Amino acid sequence: MKAILFEQYGPPEKVLSLREVEKPSPKHNEVLIKIKATAVNDYDWSLVRGQPYLYRLMFGFLKPKHPISGMELSGIVAEIGADVHNHKVGEAVFGDISEYGFGTFAEYICINKNAVIKQPETISFEEAAALPHASTLALQALRDIGKIEQGQKVLINGGGGGVGTIGLQLAKLYHCHVTGVDAQEKIEMMKSIGFDTTIDYKQINFTKAGEKYDLILDCKTNKSAFSYLSALKVNGRYVTIGGKVGSLIKVLLWSKLINLFSTKKLQVLSLKPNKDLDYICELFREGKIKCEIDGPYALAETPGLIQYFGEGKHKGKVVIKTDSP
Ligand SMILES: NC(=O)c1ccc[n+]([C@@H]2O[C@H](COP(=O)([O-])OP(=O)(O)OC[C@H]3O[C@@H](n4cnc5c(N)ncnc54)[C@H](OP(=O)(O)O)[C@@H]3O)[C@@H](O)[C@H]2O)c1
Repeated sequence: MKAILFEQYGPPEKVLSLREVEKPSPKHNEVLIKIKATAVNDYDWSLVRGQPYLYRLMFGFLKPKHPISGMELSGIVAEIGADVHNHKVGEAVFGDISEYGFGTFAEYICINKNAVIKQPETISFEEAAALPHASTLALQALRDIGKIEQGQKVLINGGGGGVGTIGLQLAKLYHCHVTGVDAQEKIEMMKSIGFDTTIDYKQINFTKAGEKYDLILDCKTNKSAFSYLSALKVNGRYVTIGGKVGSLIKVLLWSKLINLFSTKKLQVLSLKPNKDLDYICELFREGKIKCEIDGPYALAETPGLIQYFGEGKHKGKVVIKTDSP
């Protein structure tokens, strides 16, 4: 089978290459999936470069333990192990597999039977590959941790990315007024998908602009914990899903103290992969949410696409079709 391999950490276009490798066979509790589509995520940008260095504690200190990156997929079950009873050969499946491993930048993968769920017929393979990670991050941040309510004033920092574009649509189900913060190049796209207000982060620091929000969803966490407090209304909530590790740790530590004494809450989301994906699919089927797809591109283009993602040039989710020429 064809796969995108890396044997050392470094710039994606230097260390990644398309190669022919042996097709894997499923263990007793695994399924072999013929991957139809996959997507690029922040993990890939970090994993391939081995940065931040903290990642190397988990994924190999001097060189990567596992040579194939990629964590979201949609595809067809091609074979099942002896103890697999929740999937059938020929069934379409999808999911965020990061709880069980990586390796979706390939034509096939063997993965634990619980890493994927059945894919509804109403969703294309490209859409199914784009949905799992971003939609569950957005849903868990806004609904489960952020306790979003009807008509609130919401701000999404990093609104033009994978999580931001789905987060906007989820917030609109609650008739919220949504402000999106992102790079100037993404502002037109953000307006076109329904952000009520947009802010170019290079021009305006939203924490100092005087506006206050009921709920802030942050995909970037690049400011101090106290500056986020100043942008929240009384009883407001700030939920971060990502950003620099150091900044996340600071927010986490400060939140322990601030949450004891303030009506405003700071929280850091720890993702539960694939949780409530069936609800997301229902919203998708009803036309209440859709994916902003950048692509689809071919598997051979993956090294350049990870670089493109890391440079922040993408709009929405970067999707790769593994069987395109
Ligand atoms: N909490 C968890 O358990 C968990 C699990 C997995 C992943 N994550 C994290 O979740 C995040 C996923 O977000 P995503 O998929 O939406 O990423 P994304 O597609 O890269 O979106 C992030 C957006 O933020 C923009 N941006 C960059 N700098 C910014 C700034 N200073 N202010 C405002 N916006 C800025 C980026 O634009 P430009 O770069 O073009 O400027 C991009 O459009 C990642 O950080 C990932 O590490 C969290």
